[in-house]
Amino acid sequence: MSNINAIITGVAGYVPDYVLNNEELSRMVDTNDEWITTRTGIKERRILTEEGLGTSYMARKAAKLLMKKTGADPDSIDAVIVATTTPDYPHPSTASIVLGKLGLKNAFAFDFAAACCGFMYAFDVACNMIQSGRHKRIIVIGADKMSAITDYRDRATCPLFGDGAGAVMVEGTTEEGIGLIDSYHRTDGKGLPFLHVKAGGSVCPSSRFTVDHRLHYTYQEGRTVFRYAVTAMGDDCAALLEGNGLTQNDIDYVVCHQANLRIIEAVAKRIGVPMEKVLVNIQRYGNTSAACMPLVLWDFESQLKKGDNIIFTAFGAGFVNGASYYKWAYDGDSAAVKK
Ligand code: UT7
Repeated sequence: MSNINAIITGVAGYVPDYVLNNEELSRMVDTNDEWITTRTGIKERRILTEEGLGTSYMARKAAKLLMKKTGADPDSIDAVIVATTTPDYPHPSTASIVLGKLGLKNAFAFDFAAACCGFMYAFDVACNMIQSGRHKRIIVIGADKMSAITDYRDRATCPLFGDGAGAVMVEGTTEEGIGLIDSYHRTDGKGLPFLHVKAGGSVCPSSRFTVDHRLHYTYQEGRTVFRYAVTAMGDDCAALLEGNGLTQNDIDYVVCHQANLRIIEAVAKRIGVPMEKVLVNIQRYGNTSAACMPLVLWDFESQLKKGDNIIFTAFGAGFVNGASYYKWAYDGDSAAVKK
């Protein structure tokens, strides 16, 4: 087994300036602040309104800030991975566009498609790349412009989603007891009927019909997805804790996918962790899909301490789900970890 541990050495994020709050949304569709707040916990979300800008714009902003914070030499970056469900184009990859804009010369780039689990899965892959010893420094970005696939005439889905990007620097260390310890990730493939975008892919390419019938937006059977999400994340966390001999008391923080505050609370209850230990920012950003988890890390980085036991857990279209056990590697709002 490798003696290299993979750690996060810095976190950054970007959200667009435009704030779409529940009041404004209530003027767009038949909804109200009370319904959205009690059913989802969301008060506002950020929207990338500028024409011609897509996911790579936000991903690049987050990555630029990350490089500034960590002081990483651009020539030392080995790879850029962008987890997204809303790529700029079918091809080329969003990651290749980000890499180009960052001016990286010694790196390769690829996108990672796992919906709302995209960041968590991509982070796992990046950690394995680092632990292999072949790669030294990888930027992992979770970025989504969910407003591009949200139907603002559908009150059941449009309050949920927002735009944003978060990025982490992943590096190796020989220090023991920090970094990614274990993961329990699962995909069941049963989720297609309940959560998908009907058109625009190879099964149903874009046409006048698909546009006229509003088939390019996220379709969701909310109640079913809700039930699956709570069960899957609860079970994944339980399996992960058991597999690592951890009890609830060993957990310092839970970083959960930010789809619905009621889902987050139900998962916390199932694993017996009080809400004070659950990091939540859904009220300000809504569900930014792959960006949720790194945006939570970005918002709460200043309160994290070296050695904190963090449980990541996420759920999304597929269905994809899972949980990861990570030991934080530095104190506070740090730039790069001192090595
Ligand atoms: O990140 C990917 C994974 N996605 C998720 O995890 C999302 C999972 N699902 C959910 O978060 C919830 O199911 C929703 C937030 C989408 C919906 O909440 P719900 O408590 O499951 O509501 P519901 O769909 O059962 O609808 C309850 C009622 C319905 O009215 P009736 O049939 O009871 O009269 C809806 O028509 O609420 C109505 N409704 C609304 N009312 C006001 C639905 N959307 C709205 C709205 N404003 N925006």
